[in-house]
Amino acid sequence: MSDLSRIGVAIDSKLLEKFDDHIARRGYTNRSEAFRDLIRDALIEKTAQRPDSQVVGTLTLVYDHHVRMLSDRLTEMQHDHYNHVLSTLHVHLDHDNCLEVLILKGKAGMVQKLADALISTKGVKHGRLTITTSGAGL
Ligand code: NI
Repeated sequence: MSDLSRIGVAIDSKLLEKFDDHIARRGYTNRSEAFRDLIRDALIEKTAQRPDSQVVGTLTLVYDHHVRMLSDRLTEMQHDHYNHVLSTLHVHLDHDNCLEVLILKGKAGMVQKLADALISTKGVKHGRLTITTSGAGL
C-alpha cells in the first residue's frame, strides 16, 4: 500500500447525516473506508467505459430451458468465446427456469458485447453484467 494522505472535506451537514445513515446500513464502521470504496467504484466504472481496458465481468442470466434450442444457443455462443469465459455456474431454479452465472474476462468492449449478445438472446428473461477489475493499482 502507498503512503496514506489525510484530507479534509467540507460537506453539508444534512448530506453527511444521510451519508452516515447510508454507510451504517451498509455495515461500514468508519467513513474513511466508505469514501475509499466510493472512489474505487468510480475509478473502476471509468475503466469499464474504456473499451480496450482489461476487466472481469460477472454475468447473471435467467432463462426458461424449455425454449427451443435456447440452452444450445447460449452454450454455442460461450464456446465461440471460450478464451473469455473463465467459468460458469448453472442452477436449476425450478421446473422451468435456470440461473446461469458466467465469469468473463477480457477487454471491456468485448465483455460488454458478449454479455449483450447473451442477454438479448430470445428466451433469456433477465440478464445483468457487473464489471470489475483485478483491483491492481487501486
Ligand atoms: Ni437448468
